[in-house]
Amino acid sequence: MHSFWWLLGVLHHVIWVATMLLTVQAMPPPPPIRCEASTGCNLSNSYGIWGDRKDCHVPSAAHPQTEEDLRLAVAFASKNKVKIKVVSKFSHTIPKLACPDMSFGDAMLISTANVNSTIEIDAANLAVTVDAGVGLRQLIDKVEEAGLSLVAAPYWEGVSVGGLISTGAHGSSWWGRGGAVHDHVIGLNLVVPANRSEGYAKILRLDSKDEIFKAAKVSLGLLGIISKVKLRLEAAFKRSITYNFTDDAQIEDIYMEHAKKYEFGDITWVSDAYLGQQENSVVVDFNYYRADDAWTPRFNEDVWEEVEQLAFFKHGAKPHWAKNRNAAFLDVQKKYPNFNKFLGVKRLLDPQNILSSEWSDEILFGKAGAKADGCALEGLCICSEDRHCSPVKGYYCQPGLIYKEARVCRYSSSSVESESDKTNLILD
Ligand SMILES: Cc1cc2nc3c(=O)[nH]c(=O)nc-3n(C[C@H](O)[C@H](O)[C@H](O)COP(=O)(O)OP(=O)(O)OC[C@H]3O[C@@H](n4cnc5c(N)ncnc54)[C@H](O)[C@@H]3O)c2cc1C
Ligand SMILES: *[C@@H]1O[C@H](CO)[C@@H](O)[C@H](O)[C@H]1NC(C)=O
Ligand SMILES: *[C@@H]1O[C@H](CO)[C@@H](O)[C@H](O)[C@H]1NC(C)=O
Ligand SMILES: *[C@@H]1O[C@H](CO)[C@@H](O)[C@H](O)[C@H]1NC(C)=O
Ligand SMILES: *[C@@H]1O[C@H](CO)[C@@H](O)[C@H](O)[C@H]1NC(C)=O
Repeated sequence: MHSFWWLLGVLHHVIWVATMLLTVQAMPPPPPIRCEASTGCNLSNSYGIWGDRKDCHVPSAAHPQTEEDLRLAVAFASKNKVKIKVVSKFSHTIPKLACPDMSFGDAMLISTANVNSTIEIDAANLAVTVDAGVGLRQLIDKVEEAGLSLVAAPYWEGVSVGGLISTGAHGSSWWGRGGAVHDHVIGLNLVVPANRSEGYAKILRLDSKDEIFKAAKVSLGLLGIISKVKLRLEAAFKRSITYNFTDDAQIEDIYMEHAKKYEFGDITWVSDAYLGQQENSVVVDFNYYRADDAWTPRFNEDVWEEVEQLAFFKHGAKPHWAKNRNAAFLDVQKKYPNFNKFLGVKRLLDPQNILSSEWSDEILFGKAGAKADGCALEGLCICSEDRHCSPVKGYYCQPGLIYKEARVCRYSSSSVESESDKTNLILD
């Protein structure tokens, strides 16, 4: 298995619980931004809960329709030093990327839900220019009507064009230019803060000739608001799918050959975006459940935690920007050779950091917050003390079984505290 783990590129997983999805019980989910005149707005992701189980409360939200409206919204924020975050109509991303920084006075959400009127196909040049708020399904349908196809797309069509490229969303191919959608972005418009003489916000029209284009393609919403995206197309094609049920014993020896031989599989490819994958990568997907009650650990959660730490810290796996728990992002800066170039572009385009947040400061600059009781249960930290696990439920901080450097929350039946001790644990 050694070589397999070394080549393991992206480890990602979808966290939330079946029971939580059931409590949301809406199809489609409710809009991510909900506002009341008196109390302001709440932002949720489509799962209805953030990784830290805390709300994201923001005083106001704007719903612009055009690129110029977007520019005016950014200008307002830049002039008044209001923190902003872009929110799509869907808000499918699991990490708390879209929640603005609330510790510096005012903040505002800017939705792209209504920035969705244009899909312009240039059949002669095999390209499409699309408003960032357009849903992937709408785009696929429109392109298909013209006898064309996107080159790559994620498996899920309920995402926005701006949102999916911003987190490096990918399909599955090592062929051609690769299987991440941003590998096929050939231009984009980015609305960024600007100084007074420029009207406080401006629209950058970027393509591959611009050095900052590589930062803007996968930007986690940190550089500005993408208003339009130009994507490469190809002729429509049919995909034939074969399920090959075989033993996985030799998987680490055969998957490279397999990926080269077949156009699609659960494999992603090289990217030239600063925060995109730099080498051929295999995606490993884990799905697991969490209880409604924040203090209930996952059953045998030490096993998963050890696998997670083995992959991310021993073998250098990269987290999916849209999917992993905070613990997976520890030291992510060191895994991208061009990370500093991305930060340089961030300083250039957003010198006042109006697009930064607690999450991005923690992930990009390694500004880890204090480790709260129970933090390891949500993957908000790696445990170093028992209180980071759930001692009242018998889960204590222990070394890994195989990867000894790991620190995991393991159940120990002999040491479950008595009922009376449970009252000492207070949820804050
Ligand atoms: C069921 C399901 C299946 C999935 N399958 C895949 C898959 O196969 N492959 C894969 O790679 N991913 C997959 N994902 C992850 C998904 O692609 C990402 O979470 C994607 O970012 C979601 O798009 P969104 O429009 O909801 O973006 P959001 O979650 O709303 O936004 C993502 C980030 O981008 C920023 N942003 C949004 N719009 C803009 C804009 N116009 N300009 C600048 N920043 C912006 C936001 O601030 C946020 O930080 C899946 C997710 C789900 C729920
Ligand atoms: C936002 O959440 C708070 C706390 O949960 C709640 O009191 C408030 O009514 C919510 N506001 C909206 C608009 O949903
Ligand atoms: C744009 O989104 C709105 C809702 O946010 C929807 O009603 C409308 O149909 C969408 N426009 C297009 C062209 O699909
Ligand atoms: C405003 O920005 C422009 C372009 O980036 C720059 O040339 C100019 O010096 C800036 N002016 C101020 C007052 O910062
Ligand atoms: C299925 O997998 C087996 C074992 O790796 C391989 O020998 C066979 O060629 C595969 N079949 C197809 C259609 O890929």
